[in-house]
Amino acid sequence: MFDKSESVFPSRKNSLFLAHCAISPMQYQAKVAAQDFLTAMAEGGICSLPPYFNLLPRFHQKCGQLFKTDPQNISCTHNTAEGMCLIANGYPFNKGDEIISYVNEFPSNHYPWRLQEKKGVKLVLLDDKDPLGSFSSLRSPRAWSMKDLEDKVSSRTRIIALSHVQFTSGYAADLKELGEFCQERNIDLVIDGAQSVGCLPLYPEEYNVSAVAVSCWKWLMGPFGSGLLYTSPAFRDKIEMTMAGPACMQQGLEYLDHRWHPHKDGRKFEYSSLAWEHIAAMNSLLEAVFLRYSMEGIRNEVLRLQDIFLEYLDPDLFRPLLFADQHRSGILAVVPSCDGRGLADRVAKHGLVVTPRSDYIRVAPHFYLTDDDMKRAAECFNMEAAKG
Ligand SMILES: Cc1ncc(COP(=O)(O)O)c(C=O)c1O
Repeated sequence: MFDKSESVFPSRKNSLFLAHCAISPMQYQAKVAAQDFLTAMAEGGICSLPPYFNLLPRFHQKCGQLFKTDPQNISCTHNTAEGMCLIANGYPFNKGDEIISYVNEFPSNHYPWRLQEKKGVKLVLLDDKDPLGSFSSLRSPRAWSMKDLEDKVSSRTRIIALSHVQFTSGYAADLKELGEFCQERNIDLVIDGAQSVGCLPLYPEEYNVSAVAVSCWKWLMGPFGSGLLYTSPAFRDKIEMTMAGPACMQQGLEYLDHRWHPHKDGRKFEYSSLAWEHIAAMNSLLEAVFLRYSMEGIRNEVLRLQDIFLEYLDPDLFRPLLFADQHRSGILAVVPSCDGRGLADRVAKHGLVVTPRSDYIRVAPHFYLTDDDMKRAAECFNMEAAKG
């Protein structure tokens, strides 16, 4: 049922790409849409713009569909860190308030919170834990635990900021459980969705999530430097603007009307000019892929492909971090018996693209790969690891 053809996923022609947790090949229709926009701009500049005036409203609408939310809750950004900074810098913290995060978060979901320390806000970090019990000797990141969260939460906790999927180990948060935890305590749950959106379903309103910041060039296969941000209306109302320009004001093109009249919807955070070729690309790929297939269908296909890989992988040469179903994600981290970086270089000679992190090799296939691809990948891993 999935179109996995080389014409739509041309990277299949010359590689076996298992690094969608890094920088993905841009989806084909997205590339065409971006090119068309750039060609139009090269030919006519402002004169070419009118047919594109609806790009941004369509982007809001399509991302709203993806998140099962109102388009008004979507903002177009450039990356995860920008979304996080817009939120963190504008949040009405009082001295002594606390933010809880995890010690091994990606920097884009760490430094925006660290910036708040100058306001007298405390950043409390969850420890690294081994939920599988068999990786305790490893020094690489594994996961955080609900028990640690329960121990560390306090009456001063305002925000819990965690990745839906941890970038090193692939551990996925149980957002339902986390959302209920936050709702009971009136805490804002902020999610870094960079490693999940495009692979796992993420419906913020179902889980009581206040905000989700995303980079679009991983699992969404969009242009490098494109991002998106979801904010719930109540959360957005609380956030003070820390970036401002023409695009966030209701008077729009009336540039000399300088009244302070910001949008109340997600445009509040779209302070100025955006890369429209990115938006054109995103609209095309959302339509061609992520709104065409269900997110549940994509997740199931990715996990099925991982299972085929595991079926052929030699357990004497590799130990996979196989989390319980609700904690699995697009990233399958495996611990090789040999040096991971060397192994990644060696399998690259066979056309396999994988990214090592800490003691892991991250195997991150997307839905458009095939059963044969996964078997070939495992056999190549086995052959190269057996050489030591
Ligand atoms: C969990 C996570 N968040 C965010 C990012 C990217 O952040 P940014 O969009 O700020 O470059 C990555 C990239 O690897 C990531 O793994």
